Amino acid sequence: MSLQSPFLFTVCQVGAEPALKKEVARDFPQLKFAYSRPGFVTFKSAELLSVDSDFQLVFARLSGLSMPKIASIPDFVKTLQSLNLSGPICVHVFERDQHIPGEEPKGFASGEWSGPAIEELRVQASSLSLEINRPAQAGELVVSLILLGPQEYWMGVHRARAGLSFYPGANPGVTQPKEAPSRAFVKLEEGLLWSKAPLQAKDLAVEFGSAPGGASYSLLKRGLRVIGVDPGKMDPRILEEKNYRHISKTVATVFPPELSQSVQWLLVDMNVKPSVSLFAVDRFAVAFKSSLQGVLLTIKLNEWKMADEIPSMIEHVRSMGMSRVKATQLPSNGQEIFIAGFTRQALL
Ligand SMILES: C[S@@+](CC[C@H](N)C(=O)[O-])C[C@H]1O[C@@H](n2cnc3c(N)ncnc32)[C@H](O)[C@@H]1O
Repeated sequence: MSLQSPFLFTVCQVGAEPALKKEVARDFPQLKFAYSRPGFVTFKSAELLSVDSDFQLVFARLSGLSMPKIASIPDFVKTLQSLNLSGPICVHVFERDQHIPGEEPKGFASGEWSGPAIEELRVQASSLSLEINRPAQAGELVVSLILLGPQEYWMGVHRARAGLSFYPGANPGVTQPKEAPSRAFVKLEEGLLWSKAPLQAKDLAVEFGSAPGGASYSLLKRGLRVIGVDPGKMDPRILEEKNYRHISKTVATVFPPELSQSVQWLLVDMNVKPSVSLFAVDRFAVAFKSSLQGVLLTIKLNEWKMADEIPSMIEHVRSMGMSRVKATQLPSNGQEIFIAGFTRQALL
């Protein structure tokens, strides 16, 4: 079987499906909506797509060729064999998202659908050399067995090449350690993996909207110096860190000289409108332009219709002096997106 198909599968957050469909209609009108379940949407292209067709979509954290429908694990194994892939084959088995991150019912843990599928796959494909759920290498083909429900399967193939596409379902499975004061730790860790932001120990990072301190914990753990600006209460464990300074004010009342002479990273994670977050960081990006490496922004989409403004948000971040800007919805983002912008110095 050749690695071509008119169908594209995408994996997104529960609730983001309409925003994803709108984004596809705007940026790739040759793709027409075909099928969807919460957290999973497929599209049909007018032309055959190859495994190297590249669609950069903010709301699809993973996309790839959608293969013909399969009804069972033996069906999956048969189609996998027909692909004639050589060497150990990287197979990712994962479930579509079932809940909005942070809104999972008590006691929910993913794996109820994919666990039995993995066990059956090991039995049915014992003669094949499969490596199930190991992170893919750059450029490697990944065959995915996606669980849309218990014993409800979909098959996709993609090339691992960017962002989080190396991990099953583009989810690296970051968890919140007990020392981290908030889930913002998980979001930032995912954002750093996705963006490959070149943070260096001793860099100075300033975060606007820093309380209680999950993101600060992630930065401090990497050896950065951190200034947090937030009128809210910081976790005492963060306040005790020698490389941490808290400014208990709103961003509008802080002026660049109060921070430092040189700042490498500006972060924003405030529960305010996107325009407020972007204009807040603007004047600091200008003030620190000679030392700035980049901006890492968590932007809340208080209403889904704000997703229409993402292209202009990206332009806004570019106008802050960023040479490369990209945006995504990370696996643990709520109704929000992550934008990373890097200055020319960061890309050297
Ligand atoms: C999602 S929480 C931030 C979580 C934090 N990044 C962490 O790592 O734990 C949003 C924060 O934005 C802060 N915030 C809202 N408006 C602000 C403003 N104008 N200036 C500074 N902080 C603000 C709130 O006080 C709140 O602590």
